[in-house]
Amino acid sequence: MSESQLNVLAVIGSLHRTSASQAIVRLAATQLEAAGVRVDVLDFANEPLPLFNPDTAYAAPGYPALKARVEAADVILIGTPDYHGSLSSATKNFLDHFWREFAGKLFVSLVASYEKGLTVTDQLRTVARQCYAWSLPYGVSFVEGQDFKNGEIINAAFQARFDMCLRDTRVYGQLLSAQRRADLAATDPCFLAKLRA
Ligand SMILES: Cc1cc2nc3c(=O)[nH]c(=O)nc-3n(C[C@H](O)[C@H](O)[C@H](O)COP(=O)(O)O)c2cc1C
Repeated sequence: MSESQLNVLAVIGSLHRTSASQAIVRLAATQLEAAGVRVDVLDFANEPLPLFNPDTAYAAPGYPALKARVEAADVILIGTPDYHGSLSSATKNFLDHFWREFAGKLFVSLVASYEKGLTVTDQLRTVARQCYAWSLPYGVSFVEGQDFKNGEIINAAFQARFDMCLRDTRVYGQLLSAQRRADLAATDPCFLAKLRA
């Protein structure tokens, strides 16, 4: 398989002014870029996304540009806080705008949580599955102040898991992206056949 530059859409799922999710997504973006990945950071604090309404969302002025950014991505990396054991409304609002554009792509989650974020990770995996997307076979979560502080990782165990996650994002993102492109161009039956032009 030929390697092309990997595109990651890095989604900040918190509107909190001093968001830990924002800081970890920006750290991930910086490190992925240093490894040769093209990263597009989506920050709803700077680019507000209206609450999803199926009657109006697809005709909204900002929708075509956002759709193009999602389509350009090979990997959807999401940083979300744990809100009531679930993903944030900002994250879910973004996800509700798309499904076809996610199909065959890799979802990666970074969860700010005091409780390991397991239910959040599970719920993101459910969304990915419903949209015919893949997800990493593990989640990454961190506790603000214990694992991550002032934009820096301060816990060696979390550092190792974060590094593993970024490595797997690159490697499995590249593999899945190449296979997705091959399947879209092929004619044999596969789950992506319905998305062929
Ligand atoms: C409405 C709300 C609900 C929350 N629910 C949980 C929860 O169920 N479990 C948990 O561990 N933390 C919970 N938290 C704490 C946040 O997940 C935590 O502070 C996180 O670091 C915030 O991330 P942010 O700075 O990116 O917004 C909640 C916070 C808020 C505001």
